Amino acid sequence: MDLFDDLPPDTAQTPIAPGAVLLHGFAREEAGTLLQAVESVLHQAPLRHMQTPGGFTMSVAMSNCGPLGWVSDPIGYRYAECDPLTGQPWPAMPACMMDLARRAAAQAGFADFEPDACLINQYVPGAKLSLHQDKDEKDQRAPIVSLSLGLPTVFLFGTSSRKDRPQRYRLVHGDVVVWGGPARLAYHGVAALADGEHALLGRRRLNLSFRCVG
Ligand code: SIN
Ligand code: FE2
Repeated sequence: MDLFDDLPPDTAQTPIAPGAVLLHGFAREEAGTLLQAVESVLHQAPLRHMQTPGGFTMSVAMSNCGPLGWVSDPIGYRYAECDPLTGQPWPAMPACMMDLARRAAAQAGFADFEPDACLINQYVPGAKLSLHQDKDEKDQRAPIVSLSLGLPTVFLFGTSSRKDRPQRYRLVHGDVVVWGGPARLAYHGVAALADGEHALLGRRRLNLSFRCVG
C-alpha cells in the first residue's frame, strides 16, 4: 500500500470554471524551498494586520514581495512600491517563487506570466477572507496564481456576479489555483480556518498570490 494513497497525483487538475483551474499538489515537492524563501521575505517585511477602509482590522496577516505590494488602510486599497511599516521597498521576489508562478500559469494555459507583486497572507485558526474580486490590478489580462501552504482550508470560488453562490474547494499544502481570462474577476474568498497542526507550518496557513499589477 502506498502511504500517499489519500493524496491526488501531482498531475491531477480540477477545472473550476472557464479560465480557472486547481492544480493539485503542483508545488508539493518544492514547498520546503518556497517556505524558506517566504520566511526570508517576512524577516524583512513582517506580517501585519491591515486596516480596511471601513475601519475594521483584517483577521488575515499580510506582507508582500516584488516591485509592488498590496496595502489597505483607512484611505483605501492600493499597490505601493514601499512597505508603509518600514519605509523601504518591498523585498525582491525570490527566484524560486517567480519560477513556480510562471510554471503554474503556463500549466493553466497562461504563457509568459510576469508577476510584479506577490501578496503573502497568513491565516491562523478562525482567520478568514470574505468574498471579493481582485480588481486593484491595472493589467487584468494576466491571471492570478495562488499557492497554498500549511493547514488545509476551504476556498470559495464564484462568478463575476456577487449574487451567484460560490463553489467550495478544499485546498491543501502545495495546491495551486490559477484564474484568469473569463474567470479573472470571479468573486472568491476563504472560509474561517479550522484548527490543526501542520508538519512544516504548525497552526497556520500561508497563501501566496502572484499578480501582474501593471
Ligand atoms: C486572496 O484572495 O488574496 C487569497 C486567497 C487565499 O488565501 O487562498
Ligand atoms: Fe483575492
